[in-house]
Amino acid sequence: MAKVVLITGANKGIGFQVARELGQAGFTVLLGARDASRGEEAVAKLRAEGAEVRFVAADLNNPVASATVLAKTIGKEFGHLDVLVNNAAIFLTPQEVHASDTGVETLKRTFDVNFFGTVAFTQPVLPLLRAAESAQIINVSSSLGSLTINGDSNSPYYHAKALAYNASKAALNMFTVDLAYDLRETRVKVNSVCPGYTATDLTNHTGHQTIEEGAIAIVRLARKTEKVPNGGFLHKDGTYPW
Ligand SMILES: NC(=O)c1ccc[n+]([C@@H]2O[C@H](COP(=O)([O-])OP(=O)(O)OC[C@H]3O[C@@H](n4cnc5c(N)ncnc54)[C@H](OP(=O)(O)O)[C@@H]3O)[C@@H](O)[C@H]2O)c1
Repeated sequence: MAKVVLITGANKGIGFQVARELGQAGFTVLLGARDASRGEEAVAKLRAEGAEVRFVAADLNNPVASATVLAKTIGKEFGHLDVLVNNAAIFLTPQEVHASDTGVETLKRTFDVNFFGTVAFTQPVLPLLRAAESAQIINVSSSLGSLTINGDSNSPYYHAKALAYNASKAALNMFTVDLAYDLRETRVKVNSVCPGYTATDLTNHTGHQTIEEGAIAIVRLARKTEKVPNGGFLHKDGTYPW
């Protein structure tokens, strides 16, 4: 039976590419998007390429309701979920990045999606992941969420300070570590993955990688069946420090 993967924010960017490649690899893809028409449009593209893919409503500004409805549907149809890719995220107001003047409203709106939304979306889906023979949660994070990298003046990312986004990804990394601990005796593995600096809407297409390159680490991990790490922070060429 085909493995079932649910990807949030998969109507464009890295999430879309992950959906495309996992579809090509034979997964049944539940393509999550907050907007039905954008989601259906993405689904139509991937179906035309031959993938088994369907749109599912996944709104991280309404995460509990979204995930509860979805968990029921997935439970009825498949009985389990093999992989959850928590990919959806926002990077607000790039002009407002400094710790000395980032507004609390920007922090709250960012955390609402990137941290609170992701945690609240994941929790209702956990029983389905636990019901799988082996399962994974892949939290799409960023090296900008690493406290070590942010504090290292020799790091190429030392000057990439954006308090709201970076702190939200640091918090997401803590979710990875704590959930991996919680689930350590189960068959569900939890990891953070950084796609690398990629040309998407989120970066105003300034990233040096293509979406194909951005998808590499996520797709590789989602397809891994043996020796899957638990509680790691991975990128395509290795691991990052927290
Ligand atoms: N691009 C990079 O250089 C880079 C580097 C490191 C990490 N990342 C991470 O990679 C992931 C994908 O980013 P990307 O670059 O592919 O960004 P993107 O092209 O902007 O795509 C973001 C996706 O998230 C969705 N989304 C935003 N807010 C949402 C909400 N409230 N509820 C549900 N979905 C929502 C967007 O939907 P709409 O189309 O409806 O807005 C879109 O589908 C993110 O977690 C990002 O932090 C990216």
